[in-house]
Amino acid sequence: MGGGIAQVAASAGCRVSLHDAVPGATERALQTMTGSLAKLAEKGGADPDEVLARIEMVDDLVPADLMVEAVVEDAAVKEDVFRRADGVLPPAAVLASNTSSIPIGTLAAVTSRPDKVIGMHFFNPVPVLKLVEVIRGRETSDETTALVVAFAEELGKVPAQANDFPGFVSNRILMPFINEAVWALHDGVAEADAIDTIAKLGFAHPMGPLALADLIGLDTCVAIMEVLHDGLGDDKYAPCPLLREHVEAGRLGRKSGHGFYDYSR
Ligand code: CAA
Repeated sequence: MGGGIAQVAASAGCRVSLHDAVPGATERALQTMTGSLAKLAEKGGADPDEVLARIEMVDDLVPADLMVEAVVEDAAVKEDVFRRADGVLPPAAVLASNTSSIPIGTLAAVTSRPDKVIGMHFFNPVPVLKLVEVIRGRETSDETTALVVAFAEELGKVPAQANDFPGFVSNRILMPFINEAVWALHDGVAEADAIDTIAKLGFAHPMGPLALADLIGLDTCVAIMEVLHDGLGDDKYAPCPLLREHVEAGRLGRKSGHGFYDYSR
């Protein structure tokens, strides 16, 4: 998602520094951005070379006006990024997280600028989906919120504000829906294809919940459900054992070539 966020920011004219600690990740992001920009250019979008020229791949965090963190959905890893960013970015800079579920207050607490920490939650595929869920922590200032709302609009997105509850609005709704579809598969109510067809044609969803879980990443789905389960203290948010089974077997969805569906061919 970091690559998608970099792409939309560069397409809107911003200079972007893209950093990923995982070897090869920025190269993969460049490939994905190149493919996406080519599709958009066919439909009259910006010149891909001009957009990519605004994106610099960097080996570490660098000073900037705004950071949008999009690392793995693990509070300890995110806290480490926020702690380090607090030391590298100028004091006036805003530190935003693309977290799907982790409380913004937890991330703000490791910085010296909790008023400048905020959630800026994009949706996959970032270049296509219009929503940015903007999450205010308890200490996020009005000024920071206004800046991030305006920035989301500059990117051509539609911001919607939520308060700092586990899973915010989007995943409090989406994850129980996905989880229930996994339970339906687990219980033998229907095959995966039938479950997805019912959601696509019955509710006019662009894709079914199992295909969507594969797009999001099954490990990410489990991580989000655990935050909902622990944070809201209700067993209705416990991940279905079949979801965990896939993750434990390394079937993480599209990114590993296999999830509820096979993507290896
Ligand atoms: N970049 C640029 N364009 C893209 C693209 C990308 N990455 N992906 C798709 N497109 C374009 C295609 O070129 C195509 O354009 P045309 O209509 O002009 O041909 C259009 O989008 C539709 O794509 P496809 O024809 O390939 O397939 P589709 O109609 O099934 O759309 C989809 C694909 C956009 C992914 C659509 O299925 C969809 O919106 N699915 C739901 C996605 C969703 O719910 N995302 C949210 C997940 S939750 C999340 O991200 C956050 C979280 O916290 C977990």
